[in-house]
Amino acid sequence: MTHKTATALLALTCVTLTTLIATASGPAQRPAATTHRTPVALGNYLVSTMGCHDCHTPWKLGAKGPEPDMTRALTGHPEDLKMPPAPALPAGPWIATVAATNTAWAGPWGVSFTANLTPDKETGLGDWTEEQFITALRTGKHQGKGRPILPPMPYPAYANLVDEELKAIWAYLQSLAPVKNRVPQPIDPPEGSQR
Ligand code: HEC
Repeated sequence: MTHKTATALLALTCVTLTTLIATASGPAQRPAATTHRTPVALGNYLVSTMGCHDCHTPWKLGAKGPEPDMTRALTGHPEDLKMPPAPALPAGPWIATVAATNTAWAGPWGVSFTANLTPDKETGLGDWTEEQFITALRTGKHQGKGRPILPPMPYPAYANLVDEELKAIWAYLQSLAPVKNRVPQPIDPPEGSQR
């Protein structure tokens, strides 16, 4: 084999190997879909696939059973829905109760109400910065620095999102029409409560 032929063969092998590696690692990588969307479109996609509506959009009884009321999308626990005290649960494995709207949750942590995620300045995320939003979801602290964010907000799962995705969710939420809806403060569990 001449020196030239050997070099050509080597080059061909390299190309083939590179192609093989690229093909082999292709499916394991994140779908390229994320790179072809605007941040707002990606954020919409993430919000609608990661269950934010399950808790932050009040549910109503639809024709086929309970469903998120999209006319109130992501506005959090409705301020006009005053919740009576949560029922006391008997001892046993049942641990939490939830409002029909899916927006108020009672458990050992007390009662939590899902936040208004629209950019209303007084009652939603309008006054937040992108950094506060990202830090809140990463650390589980209110606005990234305050009290612990209560269950069942699944921030430990969302903390695994990469910056590009958290920024996209933020961009999408900020693109919504602001809706005034003041969500109540959480309620501490009764002192000495076993719940
Ligand atoms: C299983 C229910 C549930 C799901 C799903 C959920 N949340 Fe929440 N979220 C809550 C509750 C309850 C609170 C209020 C917690 C509190 O008052 O400490 C909350 C609070 C928040 C807050 C305010 C945090 C703070 O610093 O005070 C943000 C922002 C938020 N959620 C964003 C999201 C986003 C974005 C998604 C989807 C990617 C999502 N949530 C999905 C239940 C949920």
